[in-house]
Amino acid sequence: VADDIDLVAEINRLKKEKNAVILAHYYVNEDIQDLADYIGDSLGLSQQAAATDADMIVFCGVHFMGETAKVLSPQKKVVIPDLNAGCSLADSAPADKFAAFKAQYPDHIVISYINCSAEIKALTDIVCTSSNALQIVESLPKDQKIIFAPDANLGRYVAHKTGREMVLWDGACIVHIDISREKLAQLREEHPDALLIAHPECKEDILKQADFVSSTTGLLKFVKDSPHDKFIVATEAGILHKMKQSVPDKKLIPAPGSDNNTCACSECPYMKMNTLEKVYNALLYEQPEIFVPEDIRLKAYDSVARMLELSK
Ligand code: 13P
Ligand code: SF4
Repeated sequence: VADDIDLVAEINRLKKEKNAVILAHYYVNEDIQDLADYIGDSLGLSQQAAATDADMIVFCGVHFMGETAKVLSPQKKVVIPDLNAGCSLADSAPADKFAAFKAQYPDHIVISYINCSAEIKALTDIVCTSSNALQIVESLPKDQKIIFAPDANLGRYVAHKTGREMVLWDGACIVHIDISREKLAQLREEHPDALLIAHPECKEDILKQADFVSSTTGLLKFVKDSPHDKFIVATEAGILHKMKQSVPDKKLIPAPGSDNNTCACSECPYMKMNTLEKVYNALLYEQPEIFVPEDIRLKAYDSVARMLELSK
């Protein structure tokens, strides 16, 4: 890309010309959030991907999100800025291993967190996100046996909250489990008046001490509606951008990651692979494009559609 090009102006021009829509997750860089047509959590983004009348979806997030958009809207071209933007949760569950695991529990229903591949969704009965996981588990009869995959931390949290026993796949989000217990304890001592709010992908001990647990959209809403004015935010730091815009007078402190993290907060290296330049190239060249084999797509569609139906 030439140095003197105005990327934002060019992206907006191409978007109109090609009738494209830019969907972005809260964890991507601020400049992309600022030009996106829609920013949201995984549920909101899926709902948008299913409903849009655009010809092309540029999905600024990670691979499984683009794939879910393609599963829902197969007639649309779906591109993502960087094919390498994956997710540790999706990577933790290879389809062949998961199929063998599932075969051990033939009388169980499979509920999968949306952070998984289309192949896993095809082996799933109902997909869920962090904003509807409790509701979806609770919609099932009390004696229904359940496999929950691939996030064991979210699974444990849901099992605890609903009182259901679930067989858990042992996957984790590398970003949320990297939040430092020691540094968080120190921060809480320094700010005893701050509420701790956390994403359910965090480890059990953080969730147990949190004042509020929810999806990214849920955390954003909580901070806005709460009478409190100080929060320690235990999730990926990208969410702070919208939070600061929505509550400019409140104090927001990102929960610190371990010393391995590249920032003083917690950043997802995959989400941060999205750059303005890559968004521009994706729009211009209409690639990298997401494809899902039709036999997998049809099965994955059923499990995602069931989630959307239960979340209306
Ligand atoms: P939500 O935005 O749905 O809470 O998901 C968080 C996440 O880690 C996405 O990868
Ligand atoms: Fe995956 Fe965690 Fe990154 Fe979300 S924050 S994309 S769950 S690795």
